[in-house]
Amino acid sequence: MEKIVVANHKMYFDSLKSVNEYIEKMKEYKDKFIVAPSNLYLKLYTDAGFNVSAQNVYAKDSGAYTGQTSAKAAKDLGAKYTLIGHSETRSYLKEDEELINGKVKNAVKNGLTVFLCIGESQKTKDEGKTKQFLKKQLDVNLKDVDDLSNIYISYEPIWSIGGVPPTNEEIDDIASYIKSLFKHDVHVLYGGGVNEKSITKLEEIPNIDGYLIGGAGTDPEKLIKILEVTQK
Ligand code: 13P
Repeated sequence: MEKIVVANHKMYFDSLKSVNEYIEKMKEYKDKFIVAPSNLYLKLYTDAGFNVSAQNVYAKDSGAYTGQTSAKAAKDLGAKYTLIGHSETRSYLKEDEELINGKVKNAVKNGLTVFLCIGESQKTKDEGKTKQFLKKQLDVNLKDVDDLSNIYISYEPIWSIGGVPPTNEEIDDIASYIKSLFKHDVHVLYGGGVNEKSITKLEEIPNIDGYLIGGAGTDPEKLIKILEVTQK
């Protein structure tokens, strides 16, 4: 089965030249993955025909919200998706669970498909509280969201980002737990340490429908290797 592959560029790219080089190298593969560029470069990708996700959007359509990104504007520029609640935005932008709930509702209202990112810290894992922590995140982040059909859940344990993934058994256990919390079939992606080396083993996990990739997704050579394994 083909997997959903999202390349989250975070803030790795910082020049127009490097973005244009990436577009040139990846355009042949543009139908095989979703790119989440820095919001500044979003339109370069939509103009080149890529499937594009915003990295974050705000809870309001427009108004006096300096520095925020409007879901409506992202949609207008051709984005079909958005990440919400990535651990880096939760941490660096001090997003709380209620604000993320507002962002999800506004994104859905504007017709964006949401990759809702959830994941536990090393401390929560060590305390054996991962499942109850994830359930709380989902309960609050998805409160009063009428239509859940366009919500994909991305499980990203904070401690594995830029590092090594949990075992396949651990990931599958969490993915099937997340799925059990929904009445409908929900897509669950995994993120954290996915690269051209770890992907072959990760592909054996039954309950994972795709991957959210950071560092390796910014390197065309590595991303192409990942796509060769995941897009059969
Ligand atoms: P890495 O793939 O660099 O571990 O990052 C994962 C991530 O945060 C994707 O959103």
